[in-house]
Amino acid sequence: MKNAEAFSSNDKILTPLKTLNELLRFVVPKGSKEMPIRIALALIFLILATLVSVYTPFLYGKAVDLVSEKTSINLSLLWFVIGAYALARLGQVFFDEAKEFVFARVAQRAVRGAALKAFKHLHNLSLSFHLNRQTGGLTRSIDRGAKGVELLLRYSIFEIVPVVIELITVGIVLWVTFGFIYSFITIMTVIIYIVYTIKVTEWRIEIRKRMNLADENASTKAVDSLLNYETVKYFNAEKIEVDRYNIAMKSYEDSAVKARASLSIVNIGQGAIIALGLFLVMGLAGEDIAKGKMSVGDFVVVNTFLLQLYLPLNFLGFVYREIRQSLLDIGRMFALVDETPDIIDKERAYKLVVENGKIEFKNVNFSYGNRVILRDLNFTVNPGEKVAIVGPTGAGKSTISKLLFRFYDPSSGEILIDNQSINDVTQNSLRLNIGMVPQDTVLFNDTIKYNIAYSKPNSTMKEIINAAKLSSIDKFISNLELGYDTLVGERGLKLSGGEKQRVAIARALLKKPKIFVFDEATSALDTKTEKSIERSLKKLSSSNTTLVIAHRLSTIIDADKIIVLESGRVIEIGTHQELINKNKLYAEMWIRQQENLN
Ligand SMILES: Nc1ncnc2c1ncn2[C@@H]1O[C@H](COP(=O)(O)OP(=O)(O)OP(=O)(O)O)[C@@H](O)[C@H]1O
Ligand SMILES: [Mg+2]
Repeated sequence: MKNAEAFSSNDKILTPLKTLNELLRFVVPKGSKEMPIRIALALIFLILATLVSVYTPFLYGKAVDLVSEKTSINLSLLWFVIGAYALARLGQVFFDEAKEFVFARVAQRAVRGAALKAFKHLHNLSLSFHLNRQTGGLTRSIDRGAKGVELLLRYSIFEIVPVVIELITVGIVLWVTFGFIYSFITIMTVIIYIVYTIKVTEWRIEIRKRMNLADENASTKAVDSLLNYETVKYFNAEKIEVDRYNIAMKSYEDSAVKARASLSIVNIGQGAIIALGLFLVMGLAGEDIAKGKMSVGDFVVVNTFLLQLYLPLNFLGFVYREIRQSLLDIGRMFALVDETPDIIDKERAYKLVVENGKIEFKNVNFSYGNRVILRDLNFTVNPGEKVAIVGPTGAGKSTISKLLFRFYDPSSGEILIDNQSINDVTQNSLRLNIGMVPQDTVLFNDTIKYNIAYSKPNSTMKEIINAAKLSSIDKFISNLELGYDTLVGERGLKLSGGEKQRVAIARALLKKPKIFVFDEATSALDTKTEKSIERSLKKLSSSNTTLVIAHRLSTIIDADKIIVLESGRVIEIGTHQELINKNKLYAEMWIRQQENLN
């Protein structure tokens, strides 16, 4: 229950009024002439359909009167009336469909516009936003919001509006043709019906909410469990997983039964109200026939009117609930769009120009919430240098690369690239100039080719193969049956850790940036492969600035500078030899690693 509740209650939602206001911009996009025309046409068809459907019972009644004529039936008139009746029925269907046809584009365009905006915005929000959210929850918000847009438009325009129009026309027609009392009873019945339905539906919404939460909870459990398939096996936890799922399903079962029972209460109540209305109106009509004020045909007309009016009301509870829910879903989606990113380009942000590739960290401090991670960090990477950052796990090494990439802003201090503060340039130009191989590479569930070319989508096959060669993965790929077209599986799980790392390196190399950041980029490789990649990097990177984060010190002996980080502080800085001579933390780490090797 926890998960599902957390998802539903912690989210921000826009008020219904604001939601409708926002929605309007997607229904009638600025400058669009097509959509207003379509909406107007749909309304015209809607009104035509309603008028035809109000007129149809009269034709029916006329036919009844004609056939019940005792003396002589006027056959040609009867054929004419029945023909008109059939045509009217066809007309209803035709106008109904015509309205759906012109409106479909309006609804779907609004769906796309709203979903697209939300999706685009999610990519603009910062890493910290995404780390705090469940990705599943986000996509679900968009899915539901988009579906909500369609439902809301369809139901409000095509269910509520026609009922209102029909109610008014029928009210007038009944009054004019049969008298005030018929009109009064019919309309009162409908009003009582509507009030009753809304009240009971409000009560049911709570019950259904509990049912949906239980459903969500069960499916979260199932997905989470299957995603962790391997872990489940490692710990023989199949039974625990099944039990957890069973408990979740049991709770769904109970609430679903309750929801069904409450529906019966709604239906019985609605049935009773309609039966009472019918009883009164038909009784009155019977009296009037007896008094000779009404014909049998009129009797049929009244009855048909009532049934025709009450029929769409059957869906009212459902429609009301859907509209309410849609408003919430859309409100949630729009609230996402309202979320402001932590990291935004300055108004006057300019394009970063990297000529030499000098990186400077000046008095940089950084914390996650109130946990201080980096303290007064100062260092410079000169153009063309290879600088290594080493230190114990959790020291803040990866955090440095994330700050450089501007996933986060430092709480104080400044980061400069070629003397331009990365806060002053556009994020786009900054990221374009840095080739990043992150500590944990996750690949897209697509081909190897797609994953390598991701850094430069229109690169040629030759460039891709070249990058693969430089990162020593070309041989492996060529030996695969499908070669570069091999699918890597979800998150790249069909590749080994080292293969994934090499795909990530190839991807970064293909981008040909001036600055490279390798965060444990070769940690999963054997020494021989690592050395061969190093050689190609060296050839490539004499003019590139490289920041390497490494645990295995043997890979960074040749670095121009080694920065030793501990608890977010630089405690030593120098070349390998200088640091060995100092005989402090680095020397200690070096000796320990050498011992392990022997
Ligand atoms: N998004 C986050 N929110 C809160 N704390 C975080 C977040 N990311 C990292 N940390 C914390 O910041 C500290 C530094 O993390 P970082 O990833 O920079 O370490 P590292 O030096 O790269 O370690 P390793 O060698 O294990 O990769 C860690 O203690 C980690 O728990
Ligand atoms: Mg790290």
